[in-house]
Amino acid sequence: MLKLGVNIDHVATLREARYRGLTHGEPSPTEAARRCEVAGAHGITAHLREDRRHIQDRDLWQLRAAVQTRLNFEMANTPEIVAFALKLKPEIVCLVPERRQEVTTEGGLDVVANEQALTETRKRMNDAGIDVSLFINAIPTQIQAAAFVGAQFIELHTGRYAEYFADESECEAELQRLISGAQQAHALGLRVNAGHGLNYENLRRLHRVPHLVELNIGHSIISRALTTGLSTAVKDMLQLMSGYPGVSA
Ligand code: PXP
Repeated sequence: MLKLGVNIDHVATLREARYRGLTHGEPSPTEAARRCEVAGAHGITAHLREDRRHIQDRDLWQLRAAVQTRLNFEMANTPEIVAFALKLKPEIVCLVPERRQEVTTEGGLDVVANEQALTETRKRMNDAGIDVSLFINAIPTQIQAAAFVGAQFIELHTGRYAEYFADESECEAELQRLISGAQQAHALGLRVNAGHGLNYENLRRLHRVPHLVELNIGHSIISRALTTGLSTAVKDMLQLMSGYPGVSA
C-alpha cells in the first residue's frame, strides 16, 4: 500500500501569521497531526527551518510526544539542526537543501557535491537508530550518489511534475524521469518516497511511477481542509453568537 505522510508545516505558517514570537496560538500543528493520524495518515512530516519561519522547536517536542505513527523530520544538514535531530530522535530524517549551494539546478539536494558531509550525517543518524532520506531530483548521478552516501531512502522531488502538470509533453517528460529514477533507485537498493506540489488533481497520474513507498503531501491537504472545514467553523461561531442578549439594528 502506498503510504501518506502529511506535512504539517503550513499549519504552523498560518499560526505564525498571527502569533509570531508568542509561545501559544492557533492552529496547533500537534492537534493537526493527531487528526491526520486518526484519519489514516501513516506519518507526520515537519521541517524545522534554520530561520524558524513556520515550525518552532517546541512544535517538534510536542509532535515527538504525540505522534503515534512515524515522525519524519525534514532538515538541513547543519551542525545545529543535526544536533537537534539527534536529541529529538524521529523515526526518519529527510535531508533537504536550504542554502543555494546545496541545491541542484532543478531544486533537490546536490548529493554529488556534498557527498562527504551527507555521508557523515547519514552515519550519525543511523548510529542513533534514525533512518535517512535524501530529497533529490530524478537525476541519475544524484541517485547514484545517494546510494554511495548509504541513505535508506530517497524522496523524489515532484515539484517540476506538479508545476508542468497542465503541459502534456513537459509533464510526460518529467514523469518518465521519475519512472526511470525510481527504477534506478530500486535497483540500487534505495527505498523511494516522493513529494512536493502533489495535489488532488495530479496524484492519479503519479501511479505510473513504480516502487513508491510513501508520498509526502502538505499544501494541498491543508488547503482542502480549510474549505471542507469552513462551514463547520462558521456554524460554530454563529452558535456562540446566538445567545447575544442585546438588540441589533
Ligand atoms: N517533501 C519535501 C522534502 C518538502 O520540502 C515539501 C514541502 O515542504 C513537501 C514534501 C510537501 O510539499 P507540498 O506542501 O507542496 O505538498
